[in-house]
Amino acid sequence: MSKSSKPTLTTEAGAPVADNQNSTSAGIGGPLLLQDQHLLEKLARFNRERIPERVVHARGSGAYGYFEVTDDVSAYTSAHFLGEVGRRTETFARFSTVADSLGGPDAARDPRGFALKFYTEEGNYDLVGNNTPVFFIKDPLKFPDFIHSQKRDPFTGKQEPGNVWDFWANSPEATHQVTWLMGDRGIPASYRHMNGYGSHTYQWTNAQGEAFFVKYHFKTNQGIRCLSAEQGEELSGSDPNSHQTDLLQSIERGVYPSWTLYVQVMPAAEAADYRFNPFDLTKIWPHKDYPLQRVGRLVLDRNPDNVFAEVEQSAFSPNNFVPGIGPSPDKMLQGRLFAYADAHRYRLGVNHTQLAVNAPKAVATGANNYGRDGLMATNAYDRHAKNYEPNSYGGPVETGAPLSAPQQVTGHWGTHEAPQHTKDDDFFQAGELYRLMSEEERKRLIANIAGGLAQVSREDVVEKNIAHFAAADPEYGKRVEEAVRELQEG
Ligand code: HEM
Repeated sequence: MSKSSKPTLTTEAGAPVADNQNSTSAGIGGPLLLQDQHLLEKLARFNRERIPERVVHARGSGAYGYFEVTDDVSAYTSAHFLGEVGRRTETFARFSTVADSLGGPDAARDPRGFALKFYTEEGNYDLVGNNTPVFFIKDPLKFPDFIHSQKRDPFTGKQEPGNVWDFWANSPEATHQVTWLMGDRGIPASYRHMNGYGSHTYQWTNAQGEAFFVKYHFKTNQGIRCLSAEQGEELSGSDPNSHQTDLLQSIERGVYPSWTLYVQVMPAAEAADYRFNPFDLTKIWPHKDYPLQRVGRLVLDRNPDNVFAEVEQSAFSPNNFVPGIGPSPDKMLQGRLFAYADAHRYRLGVNHTQLAVNAPKAVATGANNYGRDGLMATNAYDRHAKNYEPNSYGGPVETGAPLSAPQQVTGHWGTHEAPQHTKDDDFFQAGELYRLMSEEERKRLIANIAGGLAQVSREDVVEKNIAHFAAADPEYGKRVEEAVRELQEG
């Protein structure tokens, strides 16, 4: 018992601490003693508080809530959590910026991560998307180079417009996403005021074994709100935590953000003859071809108690599927199926799946397999449970039921360009997006692009980028060129 009515302060081993204000010294003015366990433990523990940050999406905010099915989609997927109107599944969401490190400003011009973990009775289903329906590249081999070009330069230690635009100059497939990012939606006003997209094409399989390709769209019920370049810059300085504050306070006030989930559904047999590659992450599927069908709503209604334990240590992996949902042949997605769990093993350790935020809490048995041990293992198995399979002792066994329908594959191994469809160029959808914009939106888009390109010293990099915009739409290219030249001359 401590002297007051407050609980007793203890060491890590639970022993009472006598003095938390003065270290143990040899005499009043003397040096400190190695025997001061409390001092040593406190300093040593403090040194180990930080873990590696996420290599991308380091800065983020998280919240819990639920997903509720509002419309019957059982014709397309056998996933249990989507199987009945009214069914609710606990969900954890983490939103993030991409390029900057921890501590970077929230109001940056950058895509936003939109990662969801559905704690379903058939295991955790992770949908790790963005607030953009497309991406900059279409082969995972390019991802490390792409990210290097967007993050801090190894020499200058800061983001360099020259690197950012150089990568895009040499990656024409980025034109669609660059147009998106430089447009009005490039700086969301908050995490609550943006849509989320699965971005990739995924495969759903129904109870009859029929396959469908799907794209996910989470539409914000708060309405889309964005910041202008000037507002974003100002807010980045005055309140670098603007998105975190907004999400936290909104939920604390009981104003729960929600999103309505829609899917586009393509019967699997239609993929081969579609006019462009439906697994190309740089392209959207026009809604007139595959209209949005409503599925349910996501509501976030609870803040985590501890940001480090629950948000920093949360781990989302695109290869956490449940029966009825699986990957498509999208090459980017295939690369991501490896990258995330590997990052988690590095960042959090092999037993990160035992942390409360990551554990399959809705599965009756919890995780039940023969994986054992490793750093910080806490899972306690029955003393007679075998750690090998097959066994004769009633340990867990496979179901024999595939998670999703098989798809036929033919061809020779090797490095291949994506399958050719009639309309597969890198520019037409960027042009369509440009032509959808109002004159005011176009003005802001051009100003944002020109503001970036005018900081690039290499003329060939500037010209290649202008050529991409011109290939998307001649007017788009011409206006970017004029605006860049004006800034360069001014
Ligand atoms: C985070 C890799 C493309 C969305 C990450 C992390 C890695 C990674 C290693 C850090 C994971 C962690 O430490 O927990 C890749 C690779 C990609 C790719 C190799 C391409 C081949 C994408 C795309 C999207 C996306 C296309 C969206 C459609 C996210 C999100 C996070 C993330 C939302 C943060 C997840 C969280 O909140 O913990 N990515 N990424 N990434 N990535 Fe990707």
